[in-house]
Amino acid sequence: MKATTLLGLLPLVRPSLGREEAADYIIVGAGTAGLVLANRLSEDPSVTVTVIEPGADERNNINVTGTDKFSLAFNTHIDWQYSTVNQPRANNRSLPLHQGKAWGGTSTINGMTYIRGNKLEFDLWSHLGNPGWTWSTLLPYFIKSENYTLPTPSQLDAGATYQPQNHGFSGPLHVGYPAALHNGSFAPLILGAWDDMSASLAHNADLNSGDVHGFGMGPQTLDGREDVRYDSARAYYHPVEHRGNLRIVRGTVRRILWGDGGGKGGRELLRANGVEFVTDQGAVQRMRVGKEVIVSAGGVRSPLVLEASGIGNRRILESLGIETLVDLPGVGENLGGQSAHIIVFSGEMEASASAYHTHVTAAELFGANLESVRNATRESIPRWAKDMARGSRNALSPEALEKQFRLQYDLIFKHNVTPAEVITVSAPGGIMVSNYYAILPFSRGSVHLGGLDQIDKPVIDPGVFSADFDIAATTAIGRMAQRFWLSDHIRPLVTAQLVPDASALPENATDAQWLAHLRQSLDMAAHPRGSAAMMSRELGGVVDPELRVYGTANVRVVDASVIPMPISGHMSAAVYAVAEKAADIIKQNSKGQ
Ligand SMILES: *[C@@H]1O[C@H](CO)[C@@H](O)[C@H](O)[C@H]1NC(C)=O
Ligand SMILES: *[C@@H]1O[C@H](CO)[C@@H](O)[C@H](O)[C@H]1NC(C)=O
Ligand SMILES: *[C@@H]1O[C@H](CO)[C@@H](O)[C@H](O)[C@H]1NC(C)=O
Ligand SMILES: *[C@@H]1O[C@H](CO)[C@@H](O)[C@H](O)[C@H]1NC(C)=O
Ligand SMILES: *[C@@H]1O[C@H](CO)[C@@H](O)[C@H](O)[C@H]1NC(C)=O
Ligand SMILES: *[C@@H]1O[C@H](CO)[C@@H](O)[C@H](O)[C@H]1NC(C)=O
Repeated sequence: MKATTLLGLLPLVRPSLGREEAADYIIVGAGTAGLVLANRLSEDPSVTVTVIEPGADERNNINVTGTDKFSLAFNTHIDWQYSTVNQPRANNRSLPLHQGKAWGGTSTINGMTYIRGNKLEFDLWSHLGNPGWTWSTLLPYFIKSENYTLPTPSQLDAGATYQPQNHGFSGPLHVGYPAALHNGSFAPLILGAWDDMSASLAHNADLNSGDVHGFGMGPQTLDGREDVRYDSARAYYHPVEHRGNLRIVRGTVRRILWGDGGGKGGRELLRANGVEFVTDQGAVQRMRVGKEVIVSAGGVRSPLVLEASGIGNRRILESLGIETLVDLPGVGENLGGQSAHIIVFSGEMEASASAYHTHVTAAELFGANLESVRNATRESIPRWAKDMARGSRNALSPEALEKQFRLQYDLIFKHNVTPAEVITVSAPGGIMVSNYYAILPFSRGSVHLGGLDQIDKPVIDPGVFSADFDIAATTAIGRMAQRFWLSDHIRPLVTAQLVPDASALPENATDAQWLAHLRQSLDMAAHPRGSAAMMSRELGGVVDPELRVYGTANVRVVDASVIPMPISGHMSAAVYAVAEKAADIIKQNSKGQ
């Protein structure tokens, strides 16, 4: 604590750092993205790469390695165990937000789902000031990162399907199905029931083709033959940890240190000359950087590192006593999250080792109400934009939010991109579970530094249910999940609705009952993104299309915080691809210098 209080007194601009240790590239955070960069940048033996990470090497932690251990790591030492500020639209509850604290970051504790998302969701990025960012420019990087393991005959029997042209077979990241997945009665039953749910809803032969519509068994980031989770440490770091030019240093980066200008674009661009970090023993140390600082601390922490370094909203920085070097009001804003919901039944069903993922269009979701929801959404966009701009205390403009929302509206209502997902799975003892989500929410929130020495206690406000669409979509997908288990196919196997109790949420529950239930039970999915968005500055962006922080010469952000808009995919697949592409951009830039 003493050390961090001291930090507040040190000037941000330090022209010379003297004789501290140095690296060409300093990567802030050994998370999902950070270790992709560590691996790719250190391929060049002439550069040195140092990753600074507060978490530890957890390669032997059973909660990490076990492919059937999802959620056991929550609230253990490898979970940051963040919580949000009280959410007024969730009965004023503070919601837990799990983020991994380990080599491998959140990829060590996530559900391992490997689903990329819809083409058009990625194409949208190019409409936000990011030429060169589309599905077709990211696909080679999805493929580069992946080593897909073909399902065994028994796994094919059990519901695994794929199209080889969508996959990579020589990348570091194993993707496939767990060893425990083998033939049985779950797949045919679930397939038949989903098939009957809607005339337009069909089996999806490969959820990773750029079209997630329909239902299919979700592949995961694991090696089914060794039966071990593949997090980014196992995939990208262990194989290259012997490289003499690469290392991980245990510590928490508190701020970037700046030289006195002299960037490529002239004196007005800030140039980082090092970072200051606190070791796990509490000592304050500095490290010089030769080329670049790359902030990969994740959707929660990356904006905090920028703020602590004098980059952010002047009003917020002033209130914290931090000198503003780049007034960039988008830092920490645009935070997107997804709320997570569950419904559980008991009965007679075989346990399944893998889950079905069903992604539905607005037409399937809203049925006869489609037109009224569409109209209400279109008419509400200006109000949501105004409310959320006010919520950001005008860090974002209503015009900027309105532009994002109109693009998102078009995806959902004109281009039939899927705004909701149900995950269907069964556990031992006849427990049948649906997790359901509005995956393209309009709500945006923020994450900021709460104080100078409080980088580990961020002020996170996801703004849950700020837009009515999110409530309508969550209610509709919840109803679909409930209807699924009570459909003709499955109902004979069901004995009771366990969670929530059927009296709290009966089959014919009204909108008001649903809303009351959602508010008191919703959780956060661990998918924070957008808090250092890759967008034009006018729209509230923080990094340019080369992921460089506006106003700086040699600082980038590479992780989920740059992903500017919600995606139907699960976050990690996209983070791997973004980081792979970023590594190529950085290498190209470095050649040009
Ligand atoms: C694994 O998870 C369990 C349940 O949360 C916990 O009790 C245990 O300490 C964890 N093991 C490790 C090595 O963290
Ligand atoms: C939530 O807190 C606010 C402010 O403290 C209060 O006005 C509101 O009534 C509370 N809402 C609920 C549902 O408790
Ligand atoms: C299930 O798989 C096992 C082993 O692969 C095989 O021996 C068995 O015949 C299969 N059963 C069915 C019903 O397909
Ligand atoms: C990909 O994974 C398979 C096992 O599923 C392994 O045999 C192969 O060596 C891997 N390929 C690469 C390039 O790592
Ligand atoms: C939706 O809006 C259109 C165009 O404004 C209007 O013609 C239509 O009646 C509205 N439908 C509903 C159900 O509100
Ligand atoms: C729901 O159904 C139950 C029993 O079938 C009935 O008692 C109840 O009034 C219904 N509730 C609504 C809101 O329709």
